[in-house]
Amino acid sequence: MSNSKTLKIAVIGGDGTGPEVVAEAVKVLKAVAPLEGISYQLQQFDYGGERYLRTGEVLPEGALDELRKFDAILLGAIGHPQVPPGILERGLLLELRFRFDQYINLRPVKLFPGVETPLKDKGPEDIDFVVVRENTEDLYCGMGGFLKKGTADEVATQVAIYTRKGCERCIRWAFEYTRKRNKKRKLTLVAKTNVLTYGHDLWWRTFQEVAQEYPDIQTDYNHVDACCMWMVKNPEQYDVIVTTNMFGDIITDLAAIIQGGMGVAAGGNINPQPGGTSMFEPMGGSAPKYTGLGAINPIAAICACAMMLEHAGHQRAADRILHAVQVVTGTKMKSQAAGRMGYTTSQVGDLVCEAL
Ligand code: IPM
Ligand code: MN
Repeated sequence: MSNSKTLKIAVIGGDGTGPEVVAEAVKVLKAVAPLEGISYQLQQFDYGGERYLRTGEVLPEGALDELRKFDAILLGAIGHPQVPPGILERGLLLELRFRFDQYINLRPVKLFPGVETPLKDKGPEDIDFVVVRENTEDLYCGMGGFLKKGTADEVATQVAIYTRKGCERCIRWAFEYTRKRNKKRKLTLVAKTNVLTYGHDLWWRTFQEVAQEYPDIQTDYNHVDACCMWMVKNPEQYDVIVTTNMFGDIITDLAAIIQGGMGVAAGGNINPQPGGTSMFEPMGGSAPKYTGLGAINPIAAICACAMMLEHAGHQRAADRILHAVQVVTGTKMKSQAAGRMGYTTSQVGDLVCEAL
């Protein structure tokens, strides 16, 4: 994407506290854009639980065609106490990931200054890695079914799909990313080859083959269970991790807590193709009980906005936001926890803008 082009951004605040944190991300975008000469257009969409309860549909007819016209989607959070689990997740979040072929789920894991980690004796120099999670296959494909449902003989299947194309494009992207990141230049594959002897054998073979094209990148392999242990014991051993969808979901929550929790963790759902529509989101949920209290930390949403700008080619603006965020976490905020920041949601947004 060229730097002079107008960035078209769809904003889906979503449910609960989603709109509040997204408003702070938009505030920071508005502040950084003139400083870095970024031209953008915003359009708000009211998709989420409330709209579903009102209309009975998660995404209305034509919504995908409408959203496809945007370069990026900034998403707050989805999840509503009156909507049964799975409906909004499948109908909105996973639908957009799949339909827009956002095959990379990118999760930077960085401990910012002043942010507390539950890991003893670990600091910002130890916790700085990135997880590249495949985002369109595996157990998330929604294949399976019931036999004799509700009887004593019930059978349920939930199928994990892995394709050569799907794992290769993700692995290749991860190698490229590791090279571009240019830190330890090390890529660790996380899987479970000792048990998932078909699907993860495909991942393993593909990883070895693609690695031949990147002799400058050191490779490593962890079983997923061991990875959970190492991430707590020696997080400094990681630079970039590439992994499957389901395992990536699990290890990125572990990663989020070691970087200071849901208040700071951001993620991107990326379609790397030219013209692809990518989606950026804070990792925290909709936290309905905090709605309207100004208690939720907007740092994650602001970091999601920085990721969006980086993906759009505005690296300097992204760096500027991340720098400002670290000034605020390092010198202003008391805590990253909801209600204990020492500031309201909107004041934290103001502080980041001032620090730009
Ligand atoms: C995430 C979330 C989603 C996932 C849920 C909400 C469907 O946990 O983005 O990590 O499982 O991918
Ligand atoms: Mn998750």
